Amino acid sequence: MSESAHGRRIVLHNRLEERESPFRLAEDARRGLTAETRTMPPKYFYDDRGSRLFEAITRLPEYYQTRAEREILERHADAIVARIRPGVLVEFGSGAADKTRALLDAMRSAGTLEGYAPLDVSREASQRAAEALIRDYPDLRVEGVIGDFERPHHLPFPGRRRLLAFLGSTIGNFERERSIAFLAGAAAEMSPADGFLIGFDLVKDADTLERAYDDAAGVTAAFNLNLLRVMNRELGADFDLAGFRHRALYDASLQRIEMHLVSTRDQTVHIPAIDLTVQFAEGESIRTELSHKYTRASVEALLRRSGLALCDWFTDERQRFALALARLP
Ligand code: SAH
Ligand code: AVI
Repeated sequence: MSESAHGRRIVLHNRLEERESPFRLAEDARRGLTAETRTMPPKYFYDDRGSRLFEAITRLPEYYQTRAEREILERHADAIVARIRPGVLVEFGSGAADKTRALLDAMRSAGTLEGYAPLDVSREASQRAAEALIRDYPDLRVEGVIGDFERPHHLPFPGRRRLLAFLGSTIGNFERERSIAFLAGAAAEMSPADGFLIGFDLVKDADTLERAYDDAAGVTAAFNLNLLRVMNRELGADFDLAGFRHRALYDASLQRIEMHLVSTRDQTVHIPAIDLTVQFAEGESIRTELSHKYTRASVEALLRRSGLALCDWFTDERQRFALALARLP
């Protein structure tokens, strides 16, 4: 474990062990790029550049999700905190932890705030977020984990009453079965007094959804293509970024956006770290992300199958996004 300490107010446990990140990337690239449907796990978007590109996405006019979720948090954080009275906020995929402040503010006003536990694979984003938070919350202790939230972790601040949060609809990036496994794992960590606040992007017309994932300024395209840069840097691959284009499409029957990197020509890519050569015909793609969309009914079913129960449901004024507050049944 390596830690970085600022006084003793920030501790970030490094659970990306020595060489683990490139090692796992190699394994995941081998599995994903040799499968019939070529895929890569979206967690590899988020190196420093990718995290900054995601933050730019959250400010795009087409990407309504972040604004809608912030609207809900600003309106309902006090009620959520009054219901759970958490001492500690544990956040999965915390990133820049910007909207998180609405929850921390509500905990501070309620006089319950002791600690914040971010869990994110991005070292850079976590460090920046923690430093900004301790500046603005003078009594806050930040004890987080840099690692993969899909793997079991002992969450910091054991024994305290906790509000778990998984914002941004990042849950939608899992395959359906993985989302159940993830929630069930979190439920196993919860005590009956804890709450779990989960953001869900809601089903809506295909046009609005596709524009949110294919913005006019091309920021989402750059975010998607960043995955190829990561593989070039970490695995010595020779992906030509000009040979792939970004594509986002909504599958209404599966209620999900799929993001792809589509080869614009016949080409061969070499990935020396895994001794792999991949042929792409023009039009063939790598599926880089799924982003599921939900209804209240599908969220209730998901929670039930994960061993959780919906105890409150909040949406923005325009019903674009929802926050579900779940507890053990
Ligand atoms: N919660 C923020 C950020 C969402 S972006 C918001 O709502 O705006 C998704 C975040 O999850 C990124 O910070 C990314 O680094 C993190 N992430 C993605 N996959 C992950 C994984 N498997 N394990 C841990 N963190 C992950
Ligand atoms: C992090 N996650 C919820 C985002 C989403 O909307 O699925 C990632 C993203 N991909 C493209 N734009 C944003």
